[in-house]
Amino acid sequence: MTVPPPADPAPGRAWEDVGGVEDQAVGTLRRVLVHGTAVALARTESGYAALLDVCPHAGAPLSAGAIRGEFVVCAWHGWKFECATGVCPLFPGAPSATRRDVRVDGGRVLVGSSSSSQETRR
Ligand code: FES
Repeated sequence: MTVPPPADPAPGRAWEDVGGVEDQAVGTLRRVLVHGTAVALARTESGYAALLDVCPHAGAPLSAGAIRGEFVVCAWHGWKFECATGVCPLFPGAPSATRRDVRVDGGRVLVGSSSSSQETRR
């Protein structure tokens, strides 16, 4: 019996296959290209998340940072961003990192070319 793939949570959005689910260990970041745009792909205990690979503080590549729990910590000055939302909780009005949607389909990790307000992590 064939099981149909899960429904695309954002039909019409362009998705980029960035590798297999098992290609990245929990607690790591890596840089991937999504339709030519650099994205920091994070894998945490909660699953995958994607943020544009540009820190909103001073432009460091977020993929050069580290995962601390459910946050990406920038390598340059230590600002942190929540993986799921991109929000920086350090002070009121801190700029957020820009997130991209991620979904897993058939063991492959797919990153969207834009983000939606709907949480799509698995
Ligand atoms: S460039 Fe990321 S914290 Fe400064």
